[in-house]
Amino acid sequence: MKHDIGRPLRSHRVLSMAGLLAVMAVIFVADTVTDYAVAAAGFYTAVILVAVRLISARALIILAGLCIFLTILSFGLTKFGSYQVGLINSCISIIAIAITTYLALKMNAAQAAAQQAQAQLLRIARVTSLGELTTSIAHEVNQPLAAIATSGNACQRWLDQQPPNLDKARQAVERILGDAHRASDIIARVRGLTRGELPHKSHFDLNQAVLEVLAISRSDVEAHGIVIAVSLDENLPLVVADRVQIQQVIVNMMLNASEAMAANPDKKKEMKILSARRDAQTVQFTLVDSGSGFATGTMAQMFDPFWTTKGSGIGLGLAISRTIIEANGGRIWAEQNPDGGAIFQFSLLSAKENTL
Ligand SMILES: Nc1ncnc2c1ncn2[C@@H]1O[C@H](COP(=O)(O)OP(=O)(O)OP(=O)(O)O)[C@@H](O)[C@H]1O
Ligand SMILES: [Mg+2]
Repeated sequence: MKHDIGRPLRSHRVLSMAGLLAVMAVIFVADTVTDYAVAAAGFYTAVILVAVRLISARALIILAGLCIFLTILSFGLTKFGSYQVGLINSCISIIAIAITTYLALKMNAAQAAAQQAQAQLLRIARVTSLGELTTSIAHEVNQPLAAIATSGNACQRWLDQQPPNLDKARQAVERILGDAHRASDIIARVRGLTRGELPHKSHFDLNQAVLEVLAISRSDVEAHGIVIAVSLDENLPLVVADRVQIQQVIVNMMLNASEAMAANPDKKKEMKILSARRDAQTVQFTLVDSGSGFATGTMAQMFDPFWTTKGSGIGLGLAISRTIIEANGGRIWAEQNPDGGAIFQFSLLSAKENTL
């Protein structure tokens, strides 16, 4: 059943109004039988203040009119006290009823406006989060889609050869299928993330996950003249996190590093990828680049959604990465590389029997 928020239920309203009419009757009798000096009519203002929550604006004005009419009637029927005092008291009561009604109606209108604004805000928030969801998905599937296009072109070339190289073409199709699965996995995870769903945590080898990402993006990175140095701790314990999501974070970091290094074509382009045990409970991933680095003051803002210094950037890569890492119980941060460039790191909880 639909019910106007902020207004009591209909049955409750009818009962309350009956009670208020009874109170009005009591006020009327008290105002009539007592001395002119007793301004019982002033209590009608309390009736107005209660009634404003129960009835419409028009009904409230009628009720106020009735209160004023009863005040005048009481004044006419009262037999005791000074007539002049009675006249002044009745006028004060009438003015009080009129002002209370006016203010109550204003207050009600303001409340209704506030409620409407709140509803509109909710609608806007929903549309905005929908926009953010679509942009996030677009951002995250960009990489697998580009890979699909590359493999598609390669496949076409292998098939165009005389005779066609079917083995190579089959491998390209396999890569396309792998990337398509990855894209749909990513869409599911991003949707889950924006809906506040918990990550699909499992115990996995972070080194293995890093190597998989490298296998996918290495040729692309190296094509930009970047040298990748990998140093993975062989004795790394398993971590507890959502594997697909963590790989997304690594892809985002690598993309940013490549972009930061592309900004200065004359500089040596080096990307170091490291994994290490941080302490007994945590494992750490580090990506060092020799790119542009960043201004000291920008470190806190970099992880905010839509904060970008790139002409064609959306500013979502790091915001998504932070959401992912924090949802997986880890921490992500950036530091200046003393040799020039940036250092991005995240830590994750290492696996223990009871952490899943
Ligand atoms: N490796 C890096 N070196 C220097 N600055 C960086 C690096 N990574 C990120 N930044 C800074 O942080 C900003 C935000 O990065 P983020 O990945 O969130 O967005 P973006 O790369 O600008 O756009 P996109 O949404 O396409 O990823 C960048 O615009 C850049 O200024
Ligand atoms: Mg980015």
